[in-house]
Amino acid sequence: MSLLITSSRSVLRQVKSYSVFQCPAIHEGNLSSVLRTLYRQSSTFCVGLPCCRSSCWSWQCDLQSSRHIGLWSSHQNTPTLKTVTDVAKFIKERATNVLVMVGAGISTPSGIPDFRTPGTGLYDNLQKYNLPYPEAIFDIHFFMMDPRPFFALAQDLYPGVNYKPNVVHHFLRLLYEEEKLQMVYTQNIDGLERLAGIPDTKLMEAHGTFATASCTLCGKMHNSNKVKQAIIEGDIPMCEATNCKGKVKPDIVFFGENLPPSFWDYHQHIHFTDLLLIIGTSLEVYPFAGIADAVGTQTPRVLINLNAVGSLGRRTTDVILTGDLEESVHSLVRELGWEEKLKALEKVYESKQINEE
Ligand code: OAD
Ligand code: ZN
Repeated sequence: MSLLITSSRSVLRQVKSYSVFQCPAIHEGNLSSVLRTLYRQSSTFCVGLPCCRSSCWSWQCDLQSSRHIGLWSSHQNTPTLKTVTDVAKFIKERATNVLVMVGAGISTPSGIPDFRTPGTGLYDNLQKYNLPYPEAIFDIHFFMMDPRPFFALAQDLYPGVNYKPNVVHHFLRLLYEEEKLQMVYTQNIDGLERLAGIPDTKLMEAHGTFATASCTLCGKMHNSNKVKQAIIEGDIPMCEATNCKGKVKPDIVFFGENLPPSFWDYHQHIHFTDLLLIIGTSLEVYPFAGIADAVGTQTPRVLINLNAVGSLGRRTTDVILTGDLEESVHSLVRELGWEEKLKALEKVYESKQINEE
């Protein structure tokens, strides 16, 4: 089956006149709702990108097997965003799928240092562990030789023990509550997005999580509460399988390990993304950083970070909000008119914490 969906009459005219493309079903109208329905229902599809020239079309059409659905959307009217006010207006009026990428910067207001900020970043403060190079703390080969530095760090960082979500995490939760959030892709292992209440279905912990743990030798899954207990008490959790002397590691993705397979779903998500929001990351680590480059060139990319990073700034559709990210998020929230809602969310979080204590 081939299917054409477009909200643009000119795209429709052009595609109709393009003889290779046979489209028995044409849907017009509310693009995002039709796309979302299709996305849920179809396992294979290909997507016609908004800016496709006819040279790309034949490539797209080649992909049209009998089971593929071709989606042609048009975002050609995307306004140029420049300021935080423009971004807020776009989110309020146009966006239902905000894709978010975050890194260690968003946890600094919670008191957790990031990795690469000179002086305060974790990689400048690992002398006590005597590592051959800073990244060794997250290197699987080094871990197999000496797991102690990682477990010492994990003892401090264990989610829900020493640190709590801050305004950025609550803002992401609010995006979800307001039905604007497509997904949060996080590189962080502090679990603060989960703690802020972003549901599993909207969260991709690309560099893994403490929520599960497994043996580094036999792969056996272990009870995460027991592993947590061992880590907090300063012990190294060992495998419980008979005859296995492996160390148990929380399922954090180390250098040299694969990302969770569902990470790669971003290739599908990006076709439905209205706006990409990148907060608090140096975009130095791939494949995570590749998401930013993969979104369509017509999709606005908004960076909230101390300084410009990655390829941000190279596209006319990019917006860069430099400076302290907590302040930028506050002004975005203000422009969105969400201040009261954010306060209410923070209150709910605090009272939930008090009840659980
Ligand atoms: P980095 O430390 O590389 O980058 C954090 C970014 O946030 C930097 O660009 C900082 O300038 C910015 N930043 C920090 N605090 C800020 C603030 N208050 N306001 C504005 N900007 C601020 O952290 P990541 O990009 O997350 O891997 O690092 C990626 C990966 O490298 C991590 O996931 C980790 C590490 O090796 C693993 O854990 C496997
Ligand atoms: Zn084992």
